[in-house]
Amino acid sequence: MAMALSNSVPSACIICLSASNQFDPPSSPFKSLKPPLFWPWQKVKMGPLTVSPMGFGTWAWGNQLLWGYQPSMDSQLQQVFNLAVENGINLFDTADSYGTGRLNGQSEKLLGKFIRGFQGEKRIRDEIVIATKFAAYPWRLTSGQFVQACRASRDRMQIEQIGIGQLHWSTANYAPPQELALWNGLVAMYEKGLVKAVGVSNYGPKQLVKIHDYLKARGVPLCSAQVQFSLLSIGEDQMEIKNICDSLDIRLISYSPLGLGMLTGKYTPSRLPQGPRGLLFKQILPGLKPLLVSLREIAEKRCKTIPQVAINWCISKGTIPIPGVKTVKQAEENLGALGWRLSSSELLQLDYAAQESPQRMIQNIFQTK
Ligand SMILES: NC(=O)c1ccc[n+]([C@@H]2O[C@H](COP(=O)([O-])OP(=O)(O)OC[C@H]3O[C@@H](n4cnc5c(N)ncnc54)[C@H](OP(=O)(O)O)[C@@H]3O)[C@@H](O)[C@H]2O)c1
Repeated sequence: MAMALSNSVPSACIICLSASNQFDPPSSPFKSLKPPLFWPWQKVKMGPLTVSPMGFGTWAWGNQLLWGYQPSMDSQLQQVFNLAVENGINLFDTADSYGTGRLNGQSEKLLGKFIRGFQGEKRIRDEIVIATKFAAYPWRLTSGQFVQACRASRDRMQIEQIGIGQLHWSTANYAPPQELALWNGLVAMYEKGLVKAVGVSNYGPKQLVKIHDYLKARGVPLCSAQVQFSLLSIGEDQMEIKNICDSLDIRLISYSPLGLGMLTGKYTPSRLPQGPRGLLFKQILPGLKPLLVSLREIAEKRCKTIPQVAINWCISKGTIPIPGVKTVKQAEENLGALGWRLSSSELLQLDYAAQESPQRMIQNIFQTK
């Protein structure tokens, strides 16, 4: 059943005619039935899989250091998961390195538990796609070790087959000889049927073409490439990666679409999150004023919220964003990024504001050329 988004709409927008929205699904003739957030034809083909136009990221689920996770959050996280799935979201991103200290692997464990605890239709549960990432730890030196890692992830989640097995990062920058083991690891887990599809993360344009060609020669299609992609991290590299993805039929998954929270509008230089994020935000937030002003302007005009506009921008750029969510309120709000589209003039305004902003997000240290 589709959810109500009334909480997410700014109070100024009591009456809002979304006339500029040509993609809005028409409202249901039956009052009790809510329209879906997207139509079946708006789902995205990703190799052999079909996924929702947005997924949810689960880095925070198990991470105490950066995200302040506590096991007491688990029942709320199950509700987040249920709400997402009930509203058509079927893509969840995780990694075998997620979870700090003794909580290592917690994100995968929780996802597995939440799938088992999902009470809805079996058909819907069967369509859930878990995209996990395998860390290129220095001790993972053979393809067999990646197969082992994949089996360990599958065991933590207690699922038969993983949706997308992704390389978390490339070692090309600092340990080139290890790179072939990573690539062969993907081939082996695909050939053994441990994963339905394979993807990469933090691969730059050159390395992306190389791995694509290698996998193709081995008969393995590369279905997705995950990179940091948001109004805070858009640049020539991101656009080049997007163009390569389009020409090679690879889907681009945008991670950190909310700039770790900076593009939600809730943080200011005098209101920072606790922990390491606070230190980073302190450097970047003072330079984001023009961008946040544009986001707010468009959000108010559209009766949307700032995070909804920031996520919709990623969708409008032809990518699949995977915003991180910690609460039901955030999940509800982020679901409101679906079912409408920014106009081309709004996109231009945001692109310009992003370009003019003196600050950018720092690039992931593992991102390659
Ligand atoms: N491949 C990689 O190397 C890589 C790297 C990073 C992330 N990722 C993936 O991408 C996912 C998303 O990125 P991310 O988690 O780094 O950052 P993000 O999506 O840019 O930001 C997520 C954070 O913003 C806050 N938030 C989310 N929705 C909100 C809302 N509606 N209102 C107010 N605050 C909201 C929450 O934190 P607070 O409430 O604490 O502010 C949330 O944890 C990750 O979960 C992970 O799956 C992959």
